[in-house]
Amino acid sequence: MCIKGRRSVRSYTDEPVSKEQVEAVLEAGVWAPTGMWREPWRFIVIENKELIKYVSDEAKVLAKEKFPSYAKHLSSEADVICYNAPVLILVCTEKDQFTDNNLAESVLATQNMFLRAYELGLGTCYMGFVSLLKSKPDVLKKIGVPDNYEMMVPLILGHPKTKQESGKRKKPNIFKWIP
Ligand SMILES: Cc1cc2nc3c(=O)[nH]c(=O)nc-3n(C[C@H](O)[C@H](O)[C@H](O)COP(=O)(O)O)c2cc1C
Repeated sequence: MCIKGRRSVRSYTDEPVSKEQVEAVLEAGVWAPTGMWREPWRFIVIENKELIKYVSDEAKVLAKEKFPSYAKHLSSEADVICYNAPVLILVCTEKDQFTDNNLAESVLATQNMFLRAYELGLGTCYMGFVSLLKSKPDVLKKIGVPDNYEMMVPLILGHPKTKQESGKRKKPNIFKWIP
């Protein structure tokens, strides 16, 4: 099952991701279900290395403040945020009254994108540290998020350097099964 094969990838080759591959991944995203058929997403695709480094550096500063236990790891000169991935994608939605749905739909779209990327032999990773930049309007502006939109999910995409090990999960923890 492809769901079990997908892993978060934290090491990428320099090989660029083709436009067709990026488009295929985005297309998988928009096949996610949405409340009231709103399909609220807008995507920002960043391939510019300097801009991705800028995002990583800005996120590092916030992450160090927020998670002191990661400070040593985050002090590395290496790109320990976006892992030198060649593509950073931001799933954005409008700032409107559908806040909860917007988040759910963005995450559903993201998982579709993860699985499609995996099918194409590409690697992905959810960028939780980059999400911290939601509190930085100046940074959001620089990376193309319009004032009336929110960055809901940042994710990276690229060619994995190595084959991923298989993952592990706990069994579903069922509180109650009420027949
Ligand atoms: C909301 C969320 C935020 C995450 N943030 C990061 C992150 O900032 N950096 C990172 O390397 N991985 C991040 N991950 C990836 C998780 O660490 C990873 O999914 C988890 O360890 C399970 O591993 P797997 O994806 O390989 O199955 C995030 C995942 C989620 C769902």
